[in-house]
Amino acid sequence: MSKFKNIVSIFAGHDANITFYNPSQNEYHIIELERLIRKRYFRLHVDNTGIEIENILLKAREIAEKYWNIENDYEAVLLGSDGWIKPKEIIQRVFNTKKIKTVAKHHESHAASAFYQSNFEEALIISYDGGGDDGFFNIYKANKSKNRIKRIETIASDFGGGYLLCASLIREVAEKSRHQLALSGKMMGICAYGNPQKELIKYFKEFFFDRNYKKLSLSTGLNLKNIENPWQDPLNNWTFEGQTGFNIAATAQAAFEECVLDILNKFDSKERLIMTGGCALNVLVNERIKSEFEREIFVPPNPHDGGLSLGHLLIYNKPKENLNITYNGIPILDNENFTDYIRKYNAKKIDKSTIARLLKDGKIIGMLYEGSEVGPRALGNRSIICDPNYPEMKDILNSKVKFREWFRPFAPFCKKEDASKYFKSKNFENLEYMGYAPTVKDDYINRLPSITHFDNTARLQTVSEDSHSIFYELLTEFGKICDTNVLLNTSFNIRGMPILSTIKEALYVLQNTDIDHVIIEDYIFNKK
Ligand SMILES: [Fe+2]
Repeated sequence: MSKFKNIVSIFAGHDANITFYNPSQNEYHIIELERLIRKRYFRLHVDNTGIEIENILLKAREIAEKYWNIENDYEAVLLGSDGWIKPKEIIQRVFNTKKIKTVAKHHESHAASAFYQSNFEEALIISYDGGGDDGFFNIYKANKSKNRIKRIETIASDFGGGYLLCASLIREVAEKSRHQLALSGKMMGICAYGNPQKELIKYFKEFFFDRNYKKLSLSTGLNLKNIENPWQDPLNNWTFEGQTGFNIAATAQAAFEECVLDILNKFDSKERLIMTGGCALNVLVNERIKSEFEREIFVPPNPHDGGLSLGHLLIYNKPKENLNITYNGIPILDNENFTDYIRKYNAKKIDKSTIARLLKDGKIIGMLYEGSEVGPRALGNRSIICDPNYPEMKDILNSKVKFREWFRPFAPFCKKEDASKYFKSKNFENLEYMGYAPTVKDDYINRLPSITHFDNTARLQTVSEDSHSIFYELLTEFGKICDTNVLLNTSFNIRGMPILSTIKEALYVLQNTDIDHVIIEDYIFNKK
């Protein structure tokens, strides 16, 4: 038994997550519970009985023990200040400790999670989303050597909630959504099809600051539904469709960007900037901020609430070094059956040049490798990839593999050193996590149709040998046989489900969709 005891940190609200820390290895491992429970945006603190909560925590503890050698010997449990689990005896039983502590609040945890993943010594941090127990939009100054993250301003405006309500107005976004938390991401995709209505932007800006829905309806003259309580059922707020709806989306996005810029303009524009909280998933505003300032910027892979247990633990631990935990997510949960699956499918080892050839021939391939990426975006270890040269690829993926709405774009990845050949942006830093939306260069718009969105942007992931060696090697081989060395990357999941966590699910997708192959740890599985 190690001299130092382990620590576990739990955030139990939506996008619930648990981070484990083992001091003898100095490693952090994160379980985003939706990947374990198989329910998107999973909340632990409500919707579950005490017995269910206990079983989920037990499962998580066993994963930590089995895959990461973290014994059931905990110094303390950190519990997020919002999303409290009752009764606390459940936690004490599972982790065999009486000590349950809360040392940080919601946005403070977002800020710490992002700051320690960056390599910035000092930074201005904005953390904004639909709200936590310390507000909606906080600004911090952080200093790593002093281990200090100090709040310097609070803006009493719920940009995350405001954006979600705007998204709820649009039929194509809201009608088929199963969860209100899915709305904002979809609106980000659909606003490419709209034109901002200049005369309405100022009213939407006011709305982001005051979130007065009734006033928005009156000032814009837009006939909004559910005026008294739009939060009762946001999936039922939609009023606009087609081009009118797309224009509303584009107007709201433009207003959102202007609001964030107005706030940022009040601060020293030279300071390094970190953006986090759920709103930092908005790649359009991130790209706009990058383009408007001469400053280094960092957006982590997990700015959403899925990063909160990590942030809380980091505030407690005050680490001395920067962290790279991008692929420290959930393991492949049925990896003990891997050899059986290899035998059953007669799977063979495959090299990167053969994979590159399959991609060039138009094959769609699922990639499953050990150590899931954290955050909502697939970054190589739970990805479906293909060659975006094929114009029909987007429709095939949307209708026969991913079963998604037509207006949602697919992301590309390329080598970091090649990014400026295919894309336009202020710079190509911090693109490892698909946090921005560079523009596809004119010469490549027609040659990369499946990753070029309607507004010619693309949520690019750059890769290097260090950030993802499998993708990097694959691109080296693909570049030898194709003169556009860019591939498409979308998340590997079953329709409507979170990103997958087992070989069983990967092979289910192989058998039940138009995906051609699945590659698991360099073994290729073909349809049976
Ligand atoms: Fe949050």
